[in-house]
Amino acid sequence: MIRFRLIAAFSIAPLLMCLAASQAQAQIPDTFENLQVLPENISKQELMQIMRKFAGDLGVRCSHCHEGPDNLQGMDFATDEKPAKKVARSMMKMVDAINDKHLAGVETGRELRVEVTCQTCHSGLNVPRTIDGLIADRLKSDGIESARALYRDLREQHFGSAAYDFSSKPLNTLAERVARGGQVDEGLALIDLNIEFHPEDGYTRILQGGILMSAGKRDQAIAAFEKALEIDPENGWARQQLERIRGAGEK
Ligand code: HEC
Ligand code: HEC
Repeated sequence: MIRFRLIAAFSIAPLLMCLAASQAQAQIPDTFENLQVLPENISKQELMQIMRKFAGDLGVRCSHCHEGPDNLQGMDFATDEKPAKKVARSMMKMVDAINDKHLAGVETGRELRVEVTCQTCHSGLNVPRTIDGLIADRLKSDGIESARALYRDLREQHFGSAAYDFSSKPLNTLAERVARGGQVDEGLALIDLNIEFHPEDGYTRILQGGILMSAGKRDQAIAAFEKALEIDPENGWARQQLERIRGAGEK
């Protein structure tokens, strides 16, 4: 028995949306013709809560999955014409399976049960991707300048939302991987971008120092490790690297 749960229904429909919602509600039929996952006798109100949550969790409009205009006038909700609607149905079954089959039997020792929702993976994105995955793809297809431009665009559009991790971590991970793979200049260019947004992140400077050393750029590496120490005078790793480089230079 597949039962799609109404999760966190209370989190939607803030007051401001009520007017727009009641206008939109007028375009929604009172009976449904093509429900294959949701219960056939679901109320209009419950269905709408689920649909609005889908739209919010994926950052899309109703017309992403349903055939018709953005204002819902004359929209054919029952047809399965749009591929996204069919994907969404598979996703609903997947989410039910995760919660009912897999998570239900997990022993955590806690009373609290955490359930997976569309938001768990999608975080407001139609196609859930990590930021480093997207930047890596762009680097491969169009080169470093385009990859850097994409990062800036995404940051401008999504900073403050749950969509992407804009901490220093993803770019550092990617920079390290790219540099190890032989693209040292590209790795350093990603580090420079990261420093622009996280100038006080000591680990980024240490990574920069390491990549510079491996590229034989000793003086620049020293400057990077010195900056790491300036940011965090207690940083033993930066101090050790500096002593090592300077010691080797004196021999
Ligand atoms: C991510 C895709 C997606 C989005 C976005 C979406 N829907 Fe749906 N909708 C579905 C799926 C899938 C079904 C069918 C569910 C089933 O088979 O049980 C459905 C069913 C419906 C139905 C019932 C149609 C019928 O007669 O069978 C209505 C009405 C509806 N949606 C309205 C909306 C409205 C209004 C919005 C915007 C607030 C919306 N949907 C946003 C995927 C979506
Ligand atoms: C376990 C993670 C996960 C959960 C939970 C999840 N999705 Fe997805 N969804 C994905 C991934 C990954 C893709 C991209 C697949 C690809 O493009 O190869 C995707 C793709 C989609 C797409 C197609 C996007 C496009 O235009 O190509 C739709 C629509 C969608 N999901 C709807 C939903 C809905 C609705 C829910 C909740 C009922 C949901 N998903 C829950 C992981 C998830």
